[in-house]
Amino acid sequence: MSLRTVMEKLGHDMEAVTGAISKEDWALITELAPKIANHAEPPMSEKVQILTWLGSDAGKFRSFDMQVQAAATEMGEAAKQADGQRVIEAFSKTQQSCLACHQNFRQPFVKRFYGER
Ligand code: HEC
Repeated sequence: MSLRTVMEKLGHDMEAVTGAISKEDWALITELAPKIANHAEPPMSEKVQILTWLGSDAGKFRSFDMQVQAAATEMGEAAKQADGQRVIEAFSKTQQSCLACHQNFRQPFVKRFYGER
């Protein structure tokens, strides 16, 4: 599933943000945050497959993605102002949204589409 590639990229970008926070490299975070907020999406055919599987949970799944988008956008805004404290708060919010979706959907997703675990 190409969602996995999307997720790997998100993981790398979030790691890069961690490194940039340590260096107070707000310019780099200004670049990375929109990539996280507006991450790539799987092709339409895969989206349809995922949405069909999600059924009535599709709204919940989508709302976690929108939380990531909002928090990462806020992180970018804070980075533009070199406001380290706010960057860290927004980073934490972003991670909480990643985690919330993973806790709800990762295992069933992997089981459904990869037949593992
Ligand atoms: C809307 C739901 C959702 C959100 C939000 C979400 N993820 Fe995921 N993520 C998934 C699902 C589903 C999987 C399992 C995909 C798979 O194993 O193919 C996954 C898997 C992953 C993986 C493991 C990929 C692998 O190679 O096994 C990483 C890393 C990851 N996500 C990072 C992130 C990060 C970082 C964020 C937040 C910036 C995030 N995800 C937000 C649904 C989400």
